[in-house]
Amino acid sequence: MRKSKLNYRRHIVSKWAKTQAVIPNRRLAKYIPETRKLNRESLKDMLDRHGMVYVKPNSGTYGIGVMRVEQLAGEGDASYRCHMGTKIHTFTQYDDLYRHIAGLTRKRMYLAQKGIHLLKYRQRRFDLRVMVQQSPAGTWQTTGLIGRVAAPGKIVTNVHNGGTLKPVEVLLQGHAGSAEKARLAWRLRRLGTSVARQLHSKYRGIKEIGLDVALDERLHPWILEINTAPDPYIFRKLKDKRIFARIYRYAKAYGRL
Ligand SMILES: Nc1ncnc2c1ncn2[C@@H]1O[C@H](COP(=O)(O)OP(=O)(O)OP(=O)(O)O)[C@@H](O)[C@H]1O
Ligand SMILES: [Mg+2]
Repeated sequence: MRKSKLNYRRHIVSKWAKTQAVIPNRRLAKYIPETRKLNRESLKDMLDRHGMVYVKPNSGTYGIGVMRVEQLAGEGDASYRCHMGTKIHTFTQYDDLYRHIAGLTRKRMYLAQKGIHLLKYRQRRFDLRVMVQQSPAGTWQTTGLIGRVAAPGKIVTNVHNGGTLKPVEVLLQGHAGSAEKARLAWRLRRLGTSVARQLHSKYRGIKEIGLDVALDERLHPWILEINTAPDPYIFRKLKDKRIFARIYRYAKAYGRL
């Protein structure tokens, strides 16, 4: 990469910029759901092809402003549904749907991302957080995995949006056997360090990342978002206290805490 393209900030806000930094890596691109800038055409095209699309602020946090948009195949006219928070609106015309969304997004940049049908735990959707940090020795290490379960009826799993934290093993009960669980955990850890190295090749200042990873019914991991200032404290929830202790020690070493 040319020197002029390098960036030395520690925290990168733009979800678009972070996605664009990972996509050129062909080994990693298959883990990123199709993501485009939101506009009338991109959303229509993605609804036609995927049926379900997440619309989210390019620089959002805590799941605020995230919408789940669906095109419902029915007899005759297609109909559309837009779900945000606990509110659901339905439309028969695409133009009405888009006008509704445009009224919420105004002039801010939003992304449209292929929606992943998240696995469920006791009827609630869940996704995973993969914590990756630069160790004091300077290598990238995956230091924690934890699951986040959405509140009933919610379309986001964020703890600030009513989500609850659970160990990954618990959430995968009923979805995978023990050998499969172990393989998946290993794969997620490796995915974490690969994404960190790829992002770090462009953004030289980052010291830690938190991947939001969705699993579909085939247990394929999809990276929904890459956080560059992930909350370390969620890992205090795990019974094994050594996990948070190491996360804390690393974060202290690079001056985050
Ligand atoms: N493409 C998608 N398919 C299914 N669920 C999604 C998708 N994108 C987002 N979500 C759900 O919405 C939640 C919030 O989305 P996202 O992580 O992109 O933004 P954010 O959490 O608001 O940003 P930040 O993590 O920086 O605070 C995700 O954790 C996930 O539960
Ligand atoms: Mg997130």
